[in-house]
Amino acid sequence: MCAAFAVYSATVYTSGTDMPRLEPISDEARAGQLVFQKYNCIACHQFYGLGGYMGPDLTNVISNRGPALARAFIASGTATMPNLHLDNGEIDALIAYLTFVDGTGRYPPENYEVKWYGTVSQADDPQ
Ligand code: HEC
Repeated sequence: MCAAFAVYSATVYTSGTDMPRLEPISDEARAGQLVFQKYNCIACHQFYGLGGYMGPDLTNVISNRGPALARAFIASGTATMPNLHLDNGEIDALIAYLTFVDGTGRYPPENYEVKWYGTVSQADDPQ
């Protein structure tokens, strides 16, 4: 039992998670995070599936739908999303923040593989 535990621990703790290193958040994206919090976007939207459920998940909105579409929704609202009357600086910062979040991973997870010892890793090319 102890030997099995030692082998398992050695395997799990030396195999790493293969996660790409993230660039530190830029000042503009950080400002966008504050705008995101100020207007409580998370009341209706989610990151990685967590948040409110009135609007769509925004984790990968930039790579899935493009910055121009995100900008248009944020600037004008729709029948179901309120127009929050943000200025261009706030919108630029929000797009920088959404771009940063987009770079942190994919949701829902794609191309993952469960190893025989129970950890999960992502296949080489997530796209
Ligand atoms: C009252 C709820 C609500 C709030 C608050 C809200 N949204 Fe939305 N948002 C929505 C809904 C609902 C949609 C879908 C609208 C549609 O398809 O017509 C949406 C759509 C979007 C989209 C387009 C996503 C897509 O995949 O189509 C973006 C980007 C977005 N919102 C960003 C934001 C940001 C940034 C904030 C905060 C500044 C925010 N929203 C605040 C409800 C909200």
